[in-house]
Amino acid sequence: MIWEILDDYDALSKRAASLLLDAIRATPRPVLGLPAGRTPEGMYERVVAAARSDSVSFSAVTTFNLDEYAGVARDHPGSYYAYMKRHLFDRVDLDPSRTNVPDGAPVPRLGEPASDALAAECARYEAAIKNAGSLGLTFLGLGTNGHIGFNEPGTPFDSRTRVVELAASTRMANSALFPAGKVPRLAITIGIATMLESSAIVLLASGEAKREAVARLRGNAADESFPASALWRHPNVRVLVDRSAK
Ligand code: GLP
Repeated sequence: MIWEILDDYDALSKRAASLLLDAIRATPRPVLGLPAGRTPEGMYERVVAAARSDSVSFSAVTTFNLDEYAGVARDHPGSYYAYMKRHLFDRVDLDPSRTNVPDGAPVPRLGEPASDALAAECARYEAAIKNAGSLGLTFLGLGTNGHIGFNEPGTPFDSRTRVVELAASTRMANSALFPAGKVPRLAITIGIATMLESSAIVLLASGEAKREAVARLRGNAADESFPASALWRHPNVRVLVDRSAK
């Protein structure tokens, strides 16, 4: 695990964007794993600016998002799909058929319970990643409780894409885009095993709220009570931390 301490959020975003752009330039058909959340917003902003000024094309890029809220339709402003459209998909020349976000509100077949439709969507998503040849470079944010994607503490390291229940702290941290009392309780997330099959992983952590989680990650002990520690099992992980999170 390579640790890079950046001066501030801007420097962290710049560094993350350059790693993403380098991967696109160096790989003929890149497959990126992408996070939502506040932390990667600066990275996306810089990636979009560079794509415009340096004419970097995303036309051969495939993307897979890590997670999505369950029961939230794609056009809801709080969905991660809507987030990705705002921050990246609508702003670069990505082929919409190569952008993948789990569908948090799949339409059930006649008589099928909504939970079965969600489970089928998880299986479809895991298979789509496999068919794409697994993830290449994957970017991750870090939850204050150590979650990666929506893999909350206690998640087995051999987990795959599935429906999960969100921790109370995660629902509180993500409440801004939902009316009071309407923060989703469930989500779809790719599993830790799915993530660990990425060829390279970059974890981003910024701000004082992440300090405790960053310190625990540094502890170098893979432990299922702290999901991000699974990354110690991967041979090619870079952690970008700004000074406020260190
Ligand atoms: C959220 C998301 C993660 C994200 C993490 C950190 O709950 N499911 O994918 O990386 O928590 O979010 P933020 O960057 O907003 O702190």
